[in-house]
Amino acid sequence: MPDRTIIEPFRIKSVEPLRFTTRAEREEALAAAGWNLFNLRAQDVIIDLLTDSGTGAMSTDQWAAVMRGDESYAGSRSYERFAEVVSDLTGYRHVIPTHQGRAAERILFHQMVVEDQVVPNNTHFDTTRANIEFQGATALDIPCAEAADVASMAPFKGDVDLDALEDALTDHDVPLVMVTITNNSGGGQPVSLANLRSVRSICDRYNTPLYLDAARFAENAWFIHAREDGCGDRSPREIAEEVFRLTDGCTMSLKKDGFGNIGGVLATNDDDLAARCRTELILTEGFPTYGGLAGRDLEALAQGLLEITDPDYLRYRVRTVAYLAEKANAAGVPTVQPPGGHAVYLDAAALLPHIPPHELPAQALANELYLDGGVRGVEIGTLMFGRPGTGGQPDEVAPHELVRLALPRRVYTQSHVDYVGEVIVSVASRAESLRGYRIAEQPRWLRHFTARLEPIGYNDPP
Ligand code: F0G
Repeated sequence: MPDRTIIEPFRIKSVEPLRFTTRAEREEALAAAGWNLFNLRAQDVIIDLLTDSGTGAMSTDQWAAVMRGDESYAGSRSYERFAEVVSDLTGYRHVIPTHQGRAAERILFHQMVVEDQVVPNNTHFDTTRANIEFQGATALDIPCAEAADVASMAPFKGDVDLDALEDALTDHDVPLVMVTITNNSGGGQPVSLANLRSVRSICDRYNTPLYLDAARFAENAWFIHAREDGCGDRSPREIAEEVFRLTDGCTMSLKKDGFGNIGGVLATNDDDLAARCRTELILTEGFPTYGGLAGRDLEALAQGLLEITDPDYLRYRVRTVAYLAEKANAAGVPTVQPPGGHAVYLDAAALLPHIPPHELPAQALANELYLDGGVRGVEIGTLMFGRPGTGGQPDEVAPHELVRLALPRRVYTQSHVDYVGEVIVSVASRAESLRGYRIAEQPRWLRHFTARLEPIGYNDPP
């Protein structure tokens, strides 16, 4: 029996027009952008699946809360509401707002991590990795074994490898352990409650604090509710409350499961650490009761954190992602399995075996989705993670060649998702005709954001 409750659990009160473009217009736009989707003007994109970060639609209650924003520099009422909502959800004593997730990471790691230490995580997101490495420390990824197999249907591929965690704690100086829920870099895969409890007890044995990177905590709680033994009767909110209480603190981008367009938070139970973080916050973010956000942002985020664990929303959210993955699979495009919480990851290496990794197959696929239908995703492959070869060595390539199609929250309808599915079908049906790219210009760091590319054979005579 199809579940008829899985429709968009909202109706639409305010709309934003989409601008339709022709293939010829998109070719011109992408060529001008150096064949790099990050360089496009957003108005040249029809369906924007570049990220689920900061791109969600706020609810009527969030917009109403915006009007209640108290813009006092110090002691704002909006901060009190925000801190109360975060503390009720997480149980943490200290709630420090920041302008987004990476600001919380920078402050936490600057206070907790020194040179030569090691910070394990299931998989570090780019910014946590960069902020740890900036301290001269090592960001160590220890995902469970199933995570490496994109086709495995294991239910909790975000889990931490517990043996590897023990080894890291025995062999290295570890100032804190992190767990990312859901594991974005690993395909939006959830972490089980059982795994988190084990991580907690290992950390206790080594007397090491445990922090969450909780950007998608509500999607993670939904997967626990839906998949983990004994959790089906517990609400996502109850599960999330337990998850936070297994840990000593968190950094959280509120641009995902905070339903915010901007915002982040650093929260902890450590009184001394909190005092040091607040002092540092004043240097770069702002006074501790606003941390780089307006009072109205704090209000909208507080309301968003109350809405995000609604089971009807989460059921629809996760179903939408699975629905798009099914469309891709039916078109013969393999995806990371099982579908994650916020995005579908298309396996470009499997679809385009004729394009070798150094010719950027995932970029070729991402670009063709744009040219075909104005759909913008993001390459997660050799353009993002490869490195130019040195001393005559070939370029380093990435382990997987994926295109992430991330779904903004409450923004696109099922008809939009069907449209994306049709674009995937159209591109997949002529996969053999796609050609690779070479890198024409690249910066030293984070090359995927700004590199300029050239399609191979584009200017060659036919
Ligand atoms: N942690 C995770 C797991 C993330 O996915 C992100 C951002 C951050 C931290 C940093 O938060 O952007 O508020 O500073 N992810 C976005 C993405 C950018 O597209 O996946 P931020």
